Amino acid sequence: MRHAPIDPQLFVRNRRRLMRLLPPGSLAVVNANDILPANADGTLRIVPNSDLFYLTGVEQEESILLLFPDADDERQREILFLRETSDLIATWEGKKLTRESAREVTGIRNVQWVSEFPKIFHRLMCEAEHVWLNSNEHKRAEIVVETREARFVRKVREQYPLHHYHRLARLMHRLRAVKDPVETTLIRQACAITKAGFDRVCRFVKPGVTEYEVEAEFSHEFLRRRGTFAYHPIIASGANACVLHYVDNDQSCQDGDLLLLDVAASYANYNSDLTRTIPVNGRFTKRQRAVYEAVLRVFRSSVAGLRPGVKIKHWQEAAEEAMAKECVDLGLLSMRDLQEKPEDPMKRPVKRYFMHGLGHPIGLDVHDVGLTTEPIAAGWVMTVEPGLYLNAEGLGVRLENDILVTENGPVDLMSDIAIDPGDIEALMAAR
Ligand code: GLY
Ligand code: MN
Ligand code: MN
Repeated sequence: MRHAPIDPQLFVRNRRRLMRLLPPGSLAVVNANDILPANADGTLRIVPNSDLFYLTGVEQEESILLLFPDADDERQREILFLRETSDLIATWEGKKLTRESAREVTGIRNVQWVSEFPKIFHRLMCEAEHVWLNSNEHKRAEIVVETREARFVRKVREQYPLHHYHRLARLMHRLRAVKDPVETTLIRQACAITKAGFDRVCRFVKPGVTEYEVEAEFSHEFLRRRGTFAYHPIIASGANACVLHYVDNDQSCQDGDLLLLDVAASYANYNSDLTRTIPVNGRFTKRQRAVYEAVLRVFRSSVAGLRPGVKIKHWQEAAEEAMAKECVDLGLLSMRDLQEKPEDPMKRPVKRYFMHGLGHPIGLDVHDVGLTTEPIAAGWVMTVEPGLYLNAEGLGVRLENDILVTENGPVDLMSDIAIDPGDIEALMAAR
């Protein structure tokens, strides 16, 4: 792994938190992700399973975590199963977890080879009453392949039809929403890497550079700091910024245009998520600055609104109302538009210019799991990302930071990344 070792006590605490939520007689299982096929004999790089990582720190393929807090044999209460390595695997793939190194990473004493799983699992299933299996319950997930976890669920339910089955995902979402201080530190590290990339890009951008050259500048800074891209970077000059998921990054940046950068780093599987919008030539025009400042005001009021007890849908509504007023001042909407209150929120006039969500939880996933219909709570980390997209004017502005919610008010984890338009211009002038 490229990141520095993580204190295994984080994973010990996380497992304890989960075990406290399980009723008596419960057995829970979490599987690693499959290595997905590409073309011919190619495969995609493994994406660690976020729940498995949260509970163990393990990123390795074919791993399985079994938790059975009431197991009669104390040694069977936490078991990690690993793919057994060999000289052949060492030659072709390199170092894998040994039983000893897995104990150090995870804090789990009982580490077995995965070939032992069927026998041990059967024995423990005979003792268990409730079985907690995992699935991807992210609201926007569109899953067209059967995942390793889904295959496991299908087979276990076929083999043991008389147990009581439960959705582990609900518990995982509740736990993962509230970040441990160690997790917040890792997110901060991801934010610091992102800042280094953004500062570098501000010194680099000028008329004529291409969007992919800008991507390369970020990449250089992220990789040398042990980070990776948290998601496919959006580097969108001019009207490209109005394509919300623009990822071609193949145009050249024109004098007088804005450049929207939705680019951030991940570190140790923890993500950050940043958007800045900068002028290609280093100076905002009057109109660009007016649109930028409108978005910045909504950004600031939305950061301030991230308080425990507030529901996300109300937080979003407040931002849309504020943005609608800004749109009137910018000549985009009329006063009559402000009075329109259609039942379908997507039909609100402001949605013509600000069509996406105001923010999302962030952590081990960029659009992290969480209980987004429940009130915001201390310990959540949320993005705040208002935007205005004026296709007719060939410009889009979005601003996005990552915010830790606390009882004492929001803590901006990206407060050291320039956002004030004057500061952006100063940073670009200092090249
Ligand atoms: N970069 C993805 C997002 O802002 O949600
Ligand atoms: Mn985001
Ligand atoms: Mn983003």
